[in-house]
Amino acid sequence: MAEFDLVIKNGKIATSSDVFDADLGIIDGRIAAIASSLDNGKREIDASGKFVLPGGIDAHCHFDQPTGDDSIMADDFLTGTRSAAYGGTTTIIPFALQMQGQSLPDAIKDYHLRADGKCYIDYAFHLIITDPTPQLTGQDLPAAIADGYTSFKIYMTYDSLKLNDRQILDLLATAKKEGAMPMIHAENADCIDWLTSQLEADGKTAPFYHTQARPALVEREATHRAVTLSELVGTPVLIVHVSGKEALEQIRMAQNRGIPIYAETCPQYLFLSGDALDQEGFEGAKCVCSPPPRDEANQKFVWRSLINGTCQIFSSDHAPFKFEDDAGKKVNGEEAPFSKIPNGIPGVETRLPLLFSAGVMEGRMDLTRFVALTSTNPAKLYGLYPQKGSLTVGSDADIVIWDPDKHVQINNEILHHAVDYTPYEGIDVQGWPVTVISRGDVVVDYGELIGKPGRGHFIHRTKPLETLHGLL
Ligand code: URP
Ligand code: ZN
Ligand code: ZN
Repeated sequence: MAEFDLVIKNGKIATSSDVFDADLGIIDGRIAAIASSLDNGKREIDASGKFVLPGGIDAHCHFDQPTGDDSIMADDFLTGTRSAAYGGTTTIIPFALQMQGQSLPDAIKDYHLRADGKCYIDYAFHLIITDPTPQLTGQDLPAAIADGYTSFKIYMTYDSLKLNDRQILDLLATAKKEGAMPMIHAENADCIDWLTSQLEADGKTAPFYHTQARPALVEREATHRAVTLSELVGTPVLIVHVSGKEALEQIRMAQNRGIPIYAETCPQYLFLSGDALDQEGFEGAKCVCSPPPRDEANQKFVWRSLINGTCQIFSSDHAPFKFEDDAGKKVNGEEAPFSKIPNGIPGVETRLPLLFSAGVMEGRMDLTRFVALTSTNPAKLYGLYPQKGSLTVGSDADIVIWDPDKHVQINNEILHHAVDYTPYEGIDVQGWPVTVISRGDVVVDYGELIGKPGRGHFIHRTKPLETLHGLL
């Protein structure tokens, strides 16, 4: 009988389709056997009473990303992947940003330098395209896609990032030809600019007014436009960080018409509302992100979208800025108008425990759905499957052992990012990722960080279109 490097015994295994009691044997960082009983492990972990799940894939997070102003992201690849691992995530896909005027190969090279030698877990890069020159759409982007950067983000908003419809069409055409997944940040920039001018002219500059400058209809319009552009070119599009009913209705309608529109949502749209920005003084800046959190009725819609399949992916959109720091939320001072506050909130470590507790433990979704949303679907849609996203013979042994009986109150002191707050302070959760295994190595075990920075591998991804079938 084969000798395993590691055997995980007596656990309840869950994949995106099945839940069953079995042992799991690992050789050379990969799953070598799944059977009712396995012995012969050089090391054994007893997972009695625990769930054994594929490691989480956080397919939307920002680490050490240049911001274009004086603000600096709090997490680099070391603290970001450390925090991710503690939260049960074993693969991350942050963004290599092409700044205007910068070539795509230079942007990718720069981002690798930021990540090299720092990661505790495996990683891949999405691209962000801000300057779609003919050289980029004709040569550089196809070459990057062929080299395993098989998804890229397009912004419809933010002055330094946004593209017009013509530019988006050109990029979608390249995606179609080369087989990549375009991700779209859908908010109407001109509506936001106009509303911002009106609010600021009326002296309405506090953080709360960020929610008023980006109402649901600006997201609805842009989502509708993204769907239309996708339909025109005839290629799939994935709408990121969908915040509520109005955008979800556009997505659902498109899906019902047979248009391959995929969607992602995030914890802030389940657990926060606009009230989080409506605080004394500058406190609301902590929860300034785009699109903004909505209200309870929208939260219910977002929950439903995760259960009825409108959204396939649940990511963090971790975009970390410290609160008490001159390069963070207060980069433009404590009196800064909402339009000058860096956008984004931290959440890479809390993403999975929040969904596990409120989703699985509170009975809103079963374990298979949890695994699909947080691991298998992002692996399929972003070209990581079946290396990642499943527990099957031959897959990387990226495994998380969850203790469903562990109760934790989330507060910033227990987290491992470099941010000085969490938007989820004080929330009680049941269920916690106690042992986190990446390619067969135990990286985190009951609060102890065992893995070393730099052990994470960069993953060149396959083309997502080959694995799309069956998700819609
Ligand atoms: O506010 C957010 N979401 N900031 C991060 C950047 C983005 O648009 O995803
Ligand atoms: Zn975005
Ligand atoms: Zn983002």
